[in-house]
Amino acid sequence: MGQAEWARELARTILEEPLPRRWAHSQGVAAKAESLAPILGSEADLLIASAWLHDIGYAPDLIDTGFHPLDGARYLRDVERADATLCGLVAYHSGAINEARERGLIDLLTAEFHEGRSELAEALIYCDITTGPSGERFTVHERLAEIRARYGPGDLVTRVIGINEPLLLAAVASVEAALADVR
Ligand SMILES: [Fe+2]
Repeated sequence: MGQAEWARELARTILEEPLPRRWAHSQGVAAKAESLAPILGSEADLLIASAWLHDIGYAPDLIDTGFHPLDGARYLRDVERADATLCGLVAYHSGAINEARERGLIDLLTAEFHEGRSELAEALIYCDITTGPSGERFTVHERLAEIRARYGPGDLVTRVIGINEPLLLAAVASVEAALADVR
């Protein structure tokens, strides 16, 4: 059994009942990750696993700092003894470093986890940021608008989306270019 299947069942156990919408989102993100297999080769399994697990830190039972990338990664490290690369992908997903800075958690995040290779981080951004909150297929612009509308002006998350926007757009462009190359 690959990491992806283990990750799917773990994410299902953690998210399906308390957070059905987050579970639907995670299913959509994982489906996107599966679609990137042609450009990721042997690393596809790791990306798919990270897609299933990236948002588990939202689950009520996992909340510790209240910053979901860090809480999810800590659970994977401490309870599941997951591999460090997978923990790093979850800890730093979708521009989490900038949100950690805004929340005053950057020292904790960088002390505890290492950001992995940028290709996988970019691939996870692509999957997350082109999937809506209920698993819909979104363009990156629809997704950014949805996040801004959901959190509202003045919210920390909305502010962080502004900081992250260039990084998110660059990641999507990079993955789309790689996909175009293999088609
Ligand atoms: Fe997330």
